Amino acid sequence: MRAYPRIRFMGSKYRLAPRLAEVFASLPPGPAIDAFSGSGVVAYTLKASGREVLANDMLVFTSTLAEALVANADEQLTDADVARICSPSRDGRDFIASTFDGLYFPPSDHAFLDSAWSHIDELEGAKRALALSALCLAAAQKQPRGVFTVTTPRYDDGRRQLRMSLQELFVEAVGRCNAAVIPGRARARCGDVFDVNEPAAVAYLDPPYAPPRDDTCYVKRYHFLEGLATYWRGQEIMWETRTRKLAKRHTPFASKRTAPDALDRLFDHFRAADALVVSYGSNAAISGDELEALIGRHRRSVERIELEHRYAFGTHATAQRRAATEYVFVGR
Ligand SMILES: C[S@@+](CC[C@H](N)C(=O)[O-])C[C@H]1O[C@@H](n2cnc3c(N)ncnc32)[C@H](O)[C@@H]1O
Repeated sequence: MRAYPRIRFMGSKYRLAPRLAEVFASLPPGPAIDAFSGSGVVAYTLKASGREVLANDMLVFTSTLAEALVANADEQLTDADVARICSPSRDGRDFIASTFDGLYFPPSDHAFLDSAWSHIDELEGAKRALALSALCLAAAQKQPRGVFTVTTPRYDDGRRQLRMSLQELFVEAVGRCNAAVIPGRARARCGDVFDVNEPAAVAYLDPPYAPPRDDTCYVKRYHFLEGLATYWRGQEIMWETRTRKLAKRHTPFASKRTAPDALDRLFDHFRAADALVVSYGSNAAISGDELEALIGRHRRSVERIELEHRYAFGTHATAQRRAATEYVFVGR
């Protein structure tokens, strides 16, 4: 599990993966679904334990991570692939340089992303997914806190990555991605959770947590990575925004008004699974008791496990405040 490249992703279970692995090991054998795969670390954990896995997420960049690092069983980028991606542009394209001029990264980094894409467009399958994953990892590392809601660094936390070029970070990230590739049967899918219709022994459900105020929008934080994974093709840029955000993508799990009904439908949707494993944060608008009752409507028994979790998201000063209990419910 520790071979999995770390990406700062809201709600990532990187640190909790060893505990989740113990929970999964106590459940019936057979295929597993990670229905909201995000960073992909839990799908990877399931794969590493020998289960067949389907990773699903509605975002392209997270599905690309899962395609490269979970679904991919044997392909790696060679030194020659990396040299080609880092060579001068095939066609002189400049969409990123012209669209994001003055935002996020210096011009030389934008030029690298454009020219890298001119070569990645010639790749397909797992190699393409690996190259795009490494680009996304590099871009996330160089952006303070890994989020793209701000265009200028609010603070420099001294990390060496902030002083490296995106090309250097990309080359390092390729090494981490290559090292994570392990054999096993796995697939990745990009789409809505309610369109996943496959039998599974274990369904792992880690939806966005509905917060007490506002909503949990992944596109708002990671729009640049979502664009980078697609070269902004098929994406709707909100040109009036200073940050060149992408249009919001609706998901009923993100707000407290729609989440209870969506969660109820979710547990019903996966009713054929032998076991449901559900992650949820204790600082969300829906309480642990409510969630337990909702799962209980669809399961014979529900066990609640409480894990101490300090969200990787907080800065040093706020990390203490962000410490929260992470619930894991096991419905059988
Ligand atoms: C809490 S995160 C999952 C974190 C993941 N377990 C990890 O360890 O990184 C929730 C994920 O759900 C995805 N998502 C939100 N609504 C969705 C939907 N309706 N269908 C599929 N995925 C969805 C988001 O894109 C996000 O990646």
